[in-house]
Amino acid sequence: MRHLPLILAVVVHAAFADTGSVPLTSHGGTAWYLSLSVGTPPNTFTALVSTGISDLILPGQDCHNCDGHTLFDTGSSSTSQDLGLTFNTTSGSGNVFTDTISIGGITATEQAMGVATQYSKNMTRDQSPADGLLGLGFKSLDSFGQSPLMRTLIAQGQLSEPVFSLKLVSGGSELFLGGKNGDLYTGEITYSQVTEENSWTVMLDSININKNPAIFNHKATIDSGSSLIILSPSDAKEFFNNIPGSRASSVAGDGYYAYPCNSTTVVSLTFGGKSFDIAPDKFNMGSEEKGSSFCIAGIVGKESGLQSIVVGSNFLTNVYTIFDIGNKRVGFASLA
Ligand SMILES: *[C@@H]1O[C@H](CO)[C@@H](O)[C@H](O)[C@H]1NC(C)=O
Ligand SMILES: *[C@@H]1O[C@H](CO)[C@@H](O)[C@H](O)[C@H]1NC(C)=O
Ligand SMILES: *[C@@H]1O[C@H](CO)[C@@H](O)[C@H](O)[C@H]1NC(C)=O
Repeated sequence: MRHLPLILAVVVHAAFADTGSVPLTSHGGTAWYLSLSVGTPPNTFTALVSTGISDLILPGQDCHNCDGHTLFDTGSSSTSQDLGLTFNTTSGSGNVFTDTISIGGITATEQAMGVATQYSKNMTRDQSPADGLLGLGFKSLDSFGQSPLMRTLIAQGQLSEPVFSLKLVSGGSELFLGGKNGDLYTGEITYSQVTEENSWTVMLDSININKNPAIFNHKATIDSGSSLIILSPSDAKEFFNNIPGSRASSVAGDGYYAYPCNSTTVVSLTFGGKSFDIAPDKFNMGSEEKGSSFCIAGIVGKESGLQSIVVGSNFLTNVYTIFDIGNKRVGFASLA
């Protein structure tokens, strides 16, 4: 009898810790969103998935400029609690509540979320098909000073492993919670340790042009919320010096480059000694102008405000990515 409580605890843990497969919908092959249910009784919302931020944000019933989105009425949920905090981020501003969230059959209770009364331009319905934003960043606290969703799921013992994985393609994309989906990748996984406590930043050995390294040894932040690879302006200049026929594109805007559309150049990124190609059609963002034989490149030069390169979805669509919170590392593998 002495051991009964221990046995019960083990059984209860095993019954709850789980994995979940969450289908993702692509918005133009550059952004991905999922469905989540919030509150009691549950309401369904869509949210963009970004590994570059850690906040969960939904449009509230009182939002001024959220027309066209499904709005969250906190008053209609019996599990909603007002934390009495306000927030103001680059995505919007409003009030912080906690509530029950379910995603892919996995549930977090008392999860903090920003309920927006005002959205920034890029979150309004004409810019974003998704109602809200789900941050899967590495931070242990979100910008409201609360636990981000992944941290809550881990703390509440809901996940088999403190890991999530992403397959981001045009169709058949998935967020896998609690581990990795062995059906979606092939070969070995190359892991790189996270170098910053607060973001999915790892060492990038090199960016290669036709297998020849052009840019070396940089920190790189893995951000599914960006569609591009963002270098500093000087690194971008150096990189494009090595792409024959390329030039700055005044048409596309500051920091953008154009190169001959018929170029056979293959760009790849090397992490942990293993290089992964960017498919030419993912690197090519389309012709500079109607009828032009110059195309816009998927690498741009901009001051990102970070001391690292931003590696966005035009790279992530080529690989299976494993975000390992427990071991503080990011893994890449070839797609199955
Ligand atoms: C949020 O911050 C921005 C920029 O600092 C400011 O312009 C805006 O008025 C703030 N909004 C609220 C609701 O405080
Ligand atoms: C919206 O734009 C701001 C910059 O104006 C950026 O910081 C933020 O990440 C963007 N949000 C989304 C969801 O893309
Ligand atoms: C690309 O097109 C240009 C002009 O149309 C031509 O001169 C060049 O040979 C072509 N290059 C390749 C690799 O096909």
